[in-house]
Amino acid sequence: MIEVEHLTKYYGPVTAIRELSFRVEQGEILGFLGPNGAGKTSTMRILTGFMPASSGRAMVAGYDVFTQPLEVRKRVGYLPENVPLYHEMTVNGYLRFVAEVKGVTRRERTSKVGAVMELCGVRDMARRLIGHLSKGYRQRVGLAQALLNDPPVLILDEPTVGLDPRQIVDIRQTIKNLRHDHTVILSTHILPEVSMTCDRVVIINGGQVVAIDTPENLMERTQPYRSIHLEVQGPEDAVLAYVQGLAGVLTITKEGASPSGAGLYTLSTGKDRDLRPDLAQAVVQQGWQLLELREVRLSLEEVFVQLVTEEGETHA
Ligand SMILES: Nc1ncnc2c1ncn2[C@@H]1O[C@H](COP(=O)(O)OP(=O)(O)OP(=O)(O)O)[C@@H](O)[C@H]1O
Ligand SMILES: [Mg+2]
Repeated sequence: MIEVEHLTKYYGPVTAIRELSFRVEQGEILGFLGPNGAGKTSTMRILTGFMPASSGRAMVAGYDVFTQPLEVRKRVGYLPENVPLYHEMTVNGYLRFVAEVKGVTRRERTSKVGAVMELCGVRDMARRLIGHLSKGYRQRVGLAQALLNDPPVLILDEPTVGLDPRQIVDIRQTIKNLRHDHTVILSTHILPEVSMTCDRVVIINGGQVVAIDTPENLMERTQPYRSIHLEVQGPEDAVLAYVQGLAGVLTITKEGASPSGAGLYTLSTGKDRDLRPDLAQAVVQQGWQLLELREVRLSLEEVFVQLVTEEGETHA
C-alpha cells in the first residue's frame, strides 16, 4: 500500500533523510519511531504529497507521490505535526469546510462531519471557535479532519500528543479499530503506545533506517539471553551457590531484599530453554520458600535506546 524506495531529502546543507526504504502492507499499522530530528515528519510530509523529496521514489495507494500528488492526497488522511487550523472558524464550520475540500457532497456533509466529531470526542465543541479550544481539543479536531471521508491511508504525526490519559486510550482504540480497512503510519515518542497499537515498527535515526520489525521481534532480537527475576526466602550464600550450579544458568546476582527479608535475584539463562520449572522445583527441594519467579522482558524503551545508541556510535 505504501512503498518507499531510497528516499532522500535535503534542506539546503541539512540531510533530513537518507536513502530511506520500507513498505507498509494493506491493513497494517506501522509505528514510526526515532529521536527528535530523526526525519519522521519530513518522511511523512513527503508521503502525503505535501513536499517533494530530493531523490528516491514513494508510492501510496498505487500512486506516485511525485507525479500524482493530487491522487495521493485524495486517498490520504494526514494529521500534521502542527495542525494548521483556522482559529476564527467554529469546529463544525471548519470540518464542513474540510469535507467540501475533500469532495464530500453537500448531502453527505452533515453525517460525515458528525461521524468524525463523534469518533474524536469533539461533538460538544461543535460551535466553539477553534482559537478558543484547549490544546488537546485542537489535536482532536486535527485528527477528526484527517479521518474525514474515510481515507484508506492515514498518516498521523504524533496523534496522541497533548491529549489527556483517557482520551489517549480512546484515540488508540479508534486507531486500532481502523486496522484492516486502513493502512496507517503513526509517529510517536510514547513507546508503550507502539507495542499496544502497531503491527510493525520502523526505527529511524539520523535519517536512516535502524530497524524494521514487529515490536515482539525487536525485543527478542536485542536481548541475547533470558532474564529471570527470582524472589526466595533462604540463606543468601546457599541460594547463590546452588542456583549458579544449575545447568543452563549463566549468571545470578543479588539485587537486594524485599521488606520481609526475602532475597531478590536476577538470573540470566540461555535463550533456548525456559528454566523456570527447573528453578521452581530446585528451590522447593532445598526447603526454601519461593515467592516469585518470572521472566523479565526488555521494554521497547530499552530496545529503542540500545538500537539508537549503537547506530549513533557506529556513525560517530
Ligand atoms: N524546513 C526545514 N528547513 C531546514 N531543516 C529542516 C526543516 N525541517 C526539518 N529540518 C531538519 O531535518 C531534520 C529532520 O527533521 P524532522 O522534523 O523530519 O524530524 P522528526 O523526526 O520529525 O523530529 P521530532 O521527533 O522532533 O518531531 C532535522 O535535522 C531538522 O532540523
Ligand atoms: Mg516530527
